[in-house]
Amino acid sequence: MRTYILLVIILMLISVVGIYSAALKVSPFNIDFPKFYNNLCFRRRRTTRDRIAVHGYPVEHHHVATEDGYILGVFRIPHSHKLQNQNEYRPVVLIQHGMMGGSDAWIYVGPDNGLPYMLADAGFDVWLGNSRGNTYSRNHSSRSTFYRDFWNFSWHEIGFYDMPAMIDYALDTNGQGQKSIHYVGHSQGTTVFFTLMSSRPEYNEKIKTAHMFAPVAIMAHMQNKLVRAVAPCLGHVNQWSHLFSSREFLPFNSFLLTFISFLWEPLPRIICVHFLKKFFDTGRWNLSALAEGFGEQPAGCSTNQILHYMQEQQSGHFRLYDYGTRKNLEMYKSEQPPDYPVENITAIVHLWYSKNDVMAAVEDVLALANRLPNKVLHQIKDPRWEHDDFALNLEIRDYVNKPVVEIIQNFERIKNEI
Ligand SMILES: *[C@@H]1O[C@H](CO)[C@@H](O)[C@H](O)[C@H]1NC(C)=O
Ligand SMILES: *[C@@H]1O[C@H](CO)[C@@H](O)[C@H](O)[C@H]1NC(C)=O
Ligand SMILES: *[C@@H]1O[C@H](CO)[C@@H](O)[C@H](O)[C@H]1NC(C)=O
Ligand SMILES: *[C@@H]1O[C@H](CO)[C@@H](O)[C@H](O)[C@H]1NC(C)=O
Repeated sequence: MRTYILLVIILMLISVVGIYSAALKVSPFNIDFPKFYNNLCFRRRRTTRDRIAVHGYPVEHHHVATEDGYILGVFRIPHSHKLQNQNEYRPVVLIQHGMMGGSDAWIYVGPDNGLPYMLADAGFDVWLGNSRGNTYSRNHSSRSTFYRDFWNFSWHEIGFYDMPAMIDYALDTNGQGQKSIHYVGHSQGTTVFFTLMSSRPEYNEKIKTAHMFAPVAIMAHMQNKLVRAVAPCLGHVNQWSHLFSSREFLPFNSFLLTFISFLWEPLPRIICVHFLKKFFDTGRWNLSALAEGFGEQPAGCSTNQILHYMQEQQSGHFRLYDYGTRKNLEMYKSEQPPDYPVENITAIVHLWYSKNDVMAAVEDVLALANRLPNKVLHQIKDPRWEHDDFALNLEIRDYVNKPVVEIIQNFERIKNEI
């Protein structure tokens, strides 16, 4: 626990340096760290594409533009090299990461256990999304990541703009005349789904099945201590939340992330795993997978995403971003932001949740489920299962990934028979 707190304090200090330097519009110590790193490092930083290609799978890197000008780096496993099914019907599946994560989070556990590989090997056209602002999506047609107007978005905009752009792009590029996809999201990847499906209900028709891992929408009972400590201040509109808003959080890309990777990558894996064993071993996580991700996650986000979650925790409502009374009146015609009408989500939603999740409390998941017209509940049997087990648990294949692939396959079989 002490190590955890220490780690958080170090991260906060470093993000303060980042925020401070961003405010002054200088890079820390006036060094462009990504460039510095790229020039110095022993090898080029690996992307999702490189990591997938290592295992022999075909993989593509796409740039998807949103209506409001952001350009998202999206990865695709178009077919399986094992099946050689490039000319067959391959239904589209889109997989979306959680906050401060990215497309890499899904593949660390390797081809036998990772959901994207399992889906590819089951005959699907697999897409791995990246939301605006993370490592692969720090790109815009006219804004620079150096300025606050680039970072002026929360997960509302990710749901409202990024998700539909990726869904439509994937369907279009697939080129087999498909009108709908299967969707899998983890944590924020579920929040953005609920946001999109309630705000733009026409997108419900584009969903065959949706799988929500650790669903986060209503947060009244969430137990995360750090959030509960900070949210009473930052979860409301005041000068502190103003100061903190519209900035890159954990600006690892430009500073710490590159620095850590620089130190980390040359170390033999054995040492990494030994180090992780010392600090993170609960006997439940795949430490080799964790080692794979070290120095690349967190992948960055906007501070507004965090503020928006803190607002949810404080209000107990799943609702739009709170800009303060005056601006709310202007934007929403009400002093308080309106709730997302989740009652209008007609798509089939499978909720995968667990007892030991400090971000997605069972009470909150059930409160949401009560309002969803078309849902299937799957409580994970393991009582110790927690938020990040969906990415790292040693038994992720049996507990989650296999049943999900089966549900998706069954849906396609039923569809094909009709
Ligand atoms: C930004 O988007 C443009 C246009 O799609 C693309 O050509 C470029 O490679 C992207 N840059 C990065 C750093 O992803
Ligand atoms: C753990 O992760 C490693 C590295 O990706 C992978 O090779 C291995 O199969 C994984 N094992 C389990 C049980 O997930
Ligand atoms: C962010 O966007 C809101 C709504 O459009 C606007 O009122 C606000 O001034 C913007 N803030 C920054 C820092 O760009
Ligand atoms: C949700 O559904 C109700 C009833 O059909 C409708 O009145 C309302 O406008 C819908 N909300 C949105 C945001 O579409």
